[in-house]
Amino acid sequence: MQLDFLGNLKRTNTCGDLRVSDVGKRAIVMGWVHRRRDLGGVIFIHLRDRYGVTQLVFFEGSPAHDRAEELRTEYVIAAEGVVSVRTPETINPNLPTGEVEILVETVWILNESRTPPFPMEDSVDVSEDARLKYRYVDLRRPRMQRNIILRSQITFAVREFLTSQQFLEIETPFMTRSTPEGARDYLVPSRVQPGNFYALPQSPQIFKQLLMVSGYDRYFQIVRCFRDEDLRADRQPEFTQIDLEMSFPQEEQVFEVIEPLMQRVCQVAGFEVPLPFPRMTYAQAMQLYGIDKPDRRIPPMTSVADLLPALVAHGLPLVAIHIPNVGALTRSERDILKEVGKGRGLRVFDDLKRLDRDSPGVVEQIRARTGATENDLLLVAGWADDPVGHRPEETMLKAAGELRLFAAQKYNDRHKLLDPKRFEFLWVTDFPMFEWDAEDQRWMAAHHPFTSVHDEDLDKLTSDPARCRSKAYDLVLNGTELGSGSIRIHRRDIQTKVFAALGFSDEEARRRFGFLLDALEYGAPPHGGIALGIDRIVMLLAGETSIRDVIPFPKTARGTDLMCDAPSAVPDRQLRELGIQLRVQS
Ligand code: AMO
Repeated sequence: MQLDFLGNLKRTNTCGDLRVSDVGKRAIVMGWVHRRRDLGGVIFIHLRDRYGVTQLVFFEGSPAHDRAEELRTEYVIAAEGVVSVRTPETINPNLPTGEVEILVETVWILNESRTPPFPMEDSVDVSEDARLKYRYVDLRRPRMQRNIILRSQITFAVREFLTSQQFLEIETPFMTRSTPEGARDYLVPSRVQPGNFYALPQSPQIFKQLLMVSGYDRYFQIVRCFRDEDLRADRQPEFTQIDLEMSFPQEEQVFEVIEPLMQRVCQVAGFEVPLPFPRMTYAQAMQLYGIDKPDRRIPPMTSVADLLPALVAHGLPLVAIHIPNVGALTRSERDILKEVGKGRGLRVFDDLKRLDRDSPGVVEQIRARTGATENDLLLVAGWADDPVGHRPEETMLKAAGELRLFAAQKYNDRHKLLDPKRFEFLWVTDFPMFEWDAEDQRWMAAHHPFTSVHDEDLDKLTSDPARCRSKAYDLVLNGTELGSGSIRIHRRDIQTKVFAALGFSDEEARRRFGFLLDALEYGAPPHGGIALGIDRIVMLLAGETSIRDVIPFPKTARGTDLMCDAPSAVPDRQLRELGIQLRVQS
């Protein structure tokens, strides 16, 4: 096929902007052939670009018509002609440009296209592997275009908002030392210093703290982070944070920045959310929802230990789980719920008649307390065995919380509470300072080791780590953790104590974080901040269920880029230069 050069040709309009007011004007549009209909005497082309679709008309007898006969789907063309109003019966009310068309006089074929691996329609179901392999084609589909455009609008709004609040956008290095955020590092070997490695940052945590020491007062960055961890729908090995840090803040001041920021971001996506966001301590979240990221679209759990004392085991909680409008369940459906509970160590009481028989009037009392009606699902859950873990009450509540979520998700088609267009933000505060790592048999930082302990729990650091609370907080939306942050330790003596509580020897603390410890000795101001996952924010606002659908070039669950085929082997010569010899273990 004879292709044309673009030459000096300039487009006058995108495929989204012609209207009746443009009728009579000459226009040059450029884009992709979305659809072609050949009605014999006349050829209609729907020309597409990211702004929309415009109809082109080629009448028989014109040189353009002959050329249009060669056009196929996804060819890239330019067309020049006169904008004309469509006849009433051909108006397309589904297109913003649907009242007009261009009567084409000249067409340029700028490039051909092989038949695409799948059509450019959202309605066609395509396997994710095919979408990721031909991502450049997938990204042309309307849904992906909407998502990527929304993402760009959101990042712009974030920059605009934070800049208006005196935040400075400052870059921090990608080739650095390990930052402890709980995942494994991606390492980059150094050629000039064989045997030495940079680590890609799991977050800019330490650098942003250093920027506070340097007096920048308010920092932000929309920044890529890298974590080698097990992937899920809301986790990628590289992802983007809205990272920020402030000097001299209380938690409240961090919230005062983030709430209007999130309100603005939601507005960009077309949603209004009321301020302020509700708050709840970690302890309350566990009591009510059995999870540190409650989905508040579903009712909380209710303690019923006082109503059914005989069912309380080892003083552990006994809770009612209430899911509205589930209707009657069959025996086998109830058995599934009981099994799910049992698998998590719970004893589930689903037979309300029996509960009432054993404790007359109790079901009415539970209903009064939970607000559950006859049509709602109501279960009572307690612990089945001996207490487990360093915070056994929490172990029980977590299990009940999982059962609650399971039941809510399973019957969403009946109660429809998990509406993706309803946005329930929540701050969860006062997280525990430490978490027990069963594998390594030691206490780990629940957030990260630079998080401040609660002033009144400072003396419990080593004597009672399980009960130590931190000044860490999470922003939660509809059961997803959007962001985490904390007030940091700004004093060298306290940082040393926390490292000691985490089991770092002085030597190890010095080796890993010596530069931070030094910096704390040069006038570090009180500081704190937060990082929000922008992939998760865009995912929820776009109504998607995986962050892969809002990341242009994501990786599969195995960390593979199917399009570029990464990770991949490298030539021996490259390894030799890096002083690396492989010993591949199967
Ligand atoms: P944290 O590790 O909780 O905190 O991360 C903050 C937010 O980043 C997002 N996120 C991810 N998104 C996609 N894929 C991942 N693998 C992934 N991991 C994290 C989440 C999460 O809430 N330095 C601290 C923040 C601070 O203390 O200021 C930090 O990184 O939305």
